[in-house]
Amino acid sequence: MGATSKDEVEVEGAVESQYDQEKEIRAFDETKAGVKGLVDAGINKLPRMFIHPESGLEKSISAWKGTFSISVIDLEGMDKDPVRRKEIVDKVRDASERGGFFQVVNHGIQVSVLEEMIQGARRFFEQDTEVKKKWYTRDRTKRVVYNCNFDLYSPTAANWRDTAYCFTAPNPPAPEELPDVCSKILLEYSKQVMNLGCLLLELLSEGLGLDPSYLEGIDCGKGLAVLCHYYPACPQPELTFGTSPHSDNDSFTILLQDNLGGLQVLHQNQWVDVPPTPGALVINIGDLLQIISNDKYKSSEHRVLAKRVGPRVSIASFFTPDVRATGKLYGPIKELLSEENPPKYRETTAKEYTDYFRAKGLDGTSALLHFKL
Ligand code: OGA
Ligand code: NI
Repeated sequence: MGATSKDEVEVEGAVESQYDQEKEIRAFDETKAGVKGLVDAGINKLPRMFIHPESGLEKSISAWKGTFSISVIDLEGMDKDPVRRKEIVDKVRDASERGGFFQVVNHGIQVSVLEEMIQGARRFFEQDTEVKKKWYTRDRTKRVVYNCNFDLYSPTAANWRDTAYCFTAPNPPAPEELPDVCSKILLEYSKQVMNLGCLLLELLSEGLGLDPSYLEGIDCGKGLAVLCHYYPACPQPELTFGTSPHSDNDSFTILLQDNLGGLQVLHQNQWVDVPPTPGALVINIGDLLQIISNDKYKSSEHRVLAKRVGPRVSIASFFTPDVRATGKLYGPIKELLSEENPPKYRETTAKEYTDYFRAKGLDGTSALLHFKL
């Protein structure tokens, strides 16, 4: 009898705490001011919804002692000299096979454009809160989506980050549809990053032994979503993440980060820093390219640590198929398959993959597993 009543108390306690959590999240969401709003209000302790369980923080594998470093690939001369191009293709292929993370320099985007893009994102998050709130939404059909954690209502603890994003291809927005403080640079950056994305798709196609136009031909880079992330200074960085471990659910990502650092990639079960390199862009392979290359290219897990210093700003450009082409199937490329290399994934559509990824949230497991044969 005694045991039963104790159980009941525990069950009641669990229900009560779940209820609190949901209420806490909803109240926070309704402020529409994001993590920045908490910091502006002067909090010095993390609300419970941001506290990740010890196991999720994976402290035990946080220090890399090896010599692995992320390669920096110079793209200079790739269109002029076939020998140089071959060298670059080899480097891109090696990096894509080894972990799918590399940096590029001489990529054709001026440093002034990179700097202004970071500043533009910063102006968006630091503008008058009442003006910024008008963009706050969880309705993904909106032109611009600004909110805190796309998966805020999932069971995983929230991350110390606000994000605003816009799909700029294949159907670019008009400047008046964008926030005034960053519309011009967002359109300019998006145009230039799209050009670079197309060049990278050629190199990635060649790296698979395919015609340079292959990946663009199957629309792998048709869609572009530009995500602006804002990571405010965190009073208790050891309790949470800026972005919890995940791999990207796109074809590939071009990441522009400021000079604060905090991005890490998982390499042989160790977290390795992706150091900020002035003028460089970070490229990482996404899940879709891992699927269609049948695991030749790797979509590695990565994360962003929360830090006492901030804000950190980064711009992640996600290249995707055209999400409106809902029926188009993606699976391991037939030309790459053989008896020794049978398909490892079933075919899926970009929409199915993205819906699954979003519903799962950033829970530390790979969405790829769901599509494995
Ligand atoms: C992402 C991501 C890293 C960063 O947007 O998927 O991993 O440095 N961003 O913001
Ligand atoms: Ni990512």
